Amino acid sequence: TDNYLQLADGNMMPQEGFGLYKVTGQETMTQAIQNAYNDGYRLFDTAQLYGNEAEVGAAFKQLQLPREEIFVTTKVAEDNQGYDQAIASVKESLAKLQLDYVDLLLVHWPIERAFFDTWRAFEDMKKAGLTKSIGVSNYEMIHLQYLATQAHEMPVVDQVELHPLLTQKPLLKFNHDHQIVTQAWSPLGRGAVLDQAVLKDIATAHGKSPAQVILRWHLQCGVSFIPKSVHEERIAQNADIYDFSLSADEMARIDALNNYQRTGREPELVYEYNKQY
Ligand code: A2P
Repeated sequence: TDNYLQLADGNMMPQEGFGLYKVTGQETMTQAIQNAYNDGYRLFDTAQLYGNEAEVGAAFKQLQLPREEIFVTTKVAEDNQGYDQAIASVKESLAKLQLDYVDLLLVHWPIERAFFDTWRAFEDMKKAGLTKSIGVSNYEMIHLQYLATQAHEMPVVDQVELHPLLTQKPLLKFNHDHQIVTQAWSPLGRGAVLDQAVLKDIATAHGKSPAQVILRWHLQCGVSFIPKSVHEERIAQNADIYDFSLSADEMARIDALNNYQRTGREPELVYEYNKQY
């Protein structure tokens, strides 16, 4: 968890983070963030849609985590897209989080409505200091290419579903070529990937768990990843991946598990742009 990636805007982002999706209840939240912090996690990833920003904020406050040490991400929900709405919603998020700024602000999903207005709001919010960095989530190549036709600044992060059953190699290459850091949500494939025999074999060979092998695979792929768990033991386990490494052959065997299997929804196409190309 000491690894940082440099973003195209010059800011540094921890490569491994802690996902807060579905973490609810103040006690569970505070406990999870405390455990994660003690295990070395510095990046905490929430979203307006998760409905837990106030609990995240209360946990930070109660635990008195030094602001400059932590990296906080939130995401603007679809309903809050649009220039004025996006800005108003982020101000609300900051109030709930009890923060003056977030480190990374993401557009949660690509939608046709207000596609460019939302991004213009993001560029302005960065200038105004509401966020240090701006990025997107669930954008495929076509969305990024469309955004590039009008953006003054491109996203520095694209957070997408990414795990051994959905390896996203073409997107990873595109993002890399455009200085966009890819960040994996559901890095463990919501647990569905953990039973793969290949992963069990590799895990046994290293004396690690399948989850640790998958996270190590993400690390060596050079992407950022945000596993989540509400169990203390797993939170610790998921941060304990820095004392072994996978061979090129093991990496290839994991890459070969790809079968384009999504656990979440498919990003919607931006029709106006598709029409032209
Ligand atoms: P739990 O919170 O009950 O520990 P993803 O991040 O891919 O969406 O997957 C998260 C799921 O995987 C959660 O349901 C979490 O459950 C479970 N999980 C997280 N870490 C581990 C681990 N080290 N071993 C097994 N399951 C894990």
